[in-house]
Amino acid sequence: MQAIAIRRGADAPAVVELPRPEPRAGEALVRTLRVGVDGTDHEVIEGGHGGFPEGEDLLVLGHEAVGVVEDPNGTGLERGDVVVPTVRRPPDGDPNGWFARDQADMAPPEATLERGIAGAHGFMSEYFTSEAEYLVRVPESLAPLGFLVEPVSIAEKAIEHANASRSAFDWRPESAMVIGNGSLGLLTLAVLGGYDRRYCVGRRDRPDPTIDIIEGLGATYVDSRRTPVDRVCDVHEPIDFAFEATGFARHPFEAIRSLAPAGVLALLGVPEPWTFEVDGGTIHKDVVMNNKAVVGSVNSAKRHFRSATDRIESFPDWFVDAFVTGVHPLSEFDRAFVDDETSIKRAVQFGTL
Ligand code: NAP
Ligand code: BGC
Ligand code: ZN
Repeated sequence: MQAIAIRRGADAPAVVELPRPEPRAGEALVRTLRVGVDGTDHEVIEGGHGGFPEGEDLLVLGHEAVGVVEDPNGTGLERGDVVVPTVRRPPDGDPNGWFARDQADMAPPEATLERGIAGAHGFMSEYFTSEAEYLVRVPESLAPLGFLVEPVSIAEKAIEHANASRSAFDWRPESAMVIGNGSLGLLTLAVLGGYDRRYCVGRRDRPDPTIDIIEGLGATYVDSRRTPVDRVCDVHEPIDFAFEATGFARHPFEAIRSLAPAGVLALLGVPEPWTFEVDGGTIHKDVVMNNKAVVGSVNSAKRHFRSATDRIESFPDWFVDAFVTGVHPLSEFDRAFVDDETSIKRAVQFGTL
């Protein structure tokens, strides 16, 4: 079968020929339909994040997948079920405490592999196998958009944890700010539809398709070149809930100033090491004296995949049409990895239902 992989030392993915996998006991064989690409895939390709499976010279890419069960292999699944795989797997098949307690999304990096990202092959192949417990069934009608379930689940988890950090008192958030107008940022802006006022931070000139989406969602575009993130509270208003999705390591420190008293900041970006100066004393005092919370969030659990499924079904058609900027056949897979200002969310199509 054909797969899309990054080889050690290469700077771009390539199609490789691999044997079709045989499901082991407890695993199902899945025929891949579509696999999306996000900023993490680009970080993996560039070598800034993740890594190869131990002892191997290539990594099959892709962690945002949807497929159809080809061989249930005695698991509770049925042939024809449309499924979305979760990303994390136990290292060496060792179900450590995080997996045993069904909270792999809370594990530190050393206690987990991530398919398509860190130490385990991903889903960009015509077929993949997975333990049935890591496959989430979705309605057949969601097959075309099932590749959005994993990225939306990332937003669902971060929002759940941020809200939980404010659950000890009567928190009444009204304003939300998403920092980043990439694929994760825009999906999150759509998920945060319940807020009275929403802002989304980018660094682009008009006309731009992401600004059109931001405004189409009823949110205000903030150009960080004119209004730095730490000035949003002065130029617009203090923010109750902020969500960072750029990986630009200055943003968290700037965003704290723009938080309203008792506000919460969720950090999602995955930056590389970078040393710079901040006024730590002022930031520390601000967090303490204003009861602010900062929550890091990575990955997601099956319940987040389920809420993501419902959420995607509620997205308006115009949003999905504008957000998904390309679904490309395997023969043109490299177009799915184009990372320019015309690209928001792209995917590779491996098959159809
Ligand atoms: P993406 O599509 O590449 O989007 C990143 C966005 O951030 C781009 O729109 C970029 O703007 C914007 N940006 C970067 N630096 C900026 C700056 N200084 N000011 C304003 N905007 C800036 O990536 P993504 O898939 O949305 O992911 C975003 C980040 O979240 C990445 O670091 C990724 O690794 C991380 N992530 C984390 C999780 C998790 O579980 N925690 C899950 C998914 C992704 P331009 O396009 O104009 O350059
Ligand atoms: C993936 C998550 C993963 C994270 C860190 C994200 O792009 O969607 O599943 O845990 O990267 O590697
Ligand atoms: Zn991702």
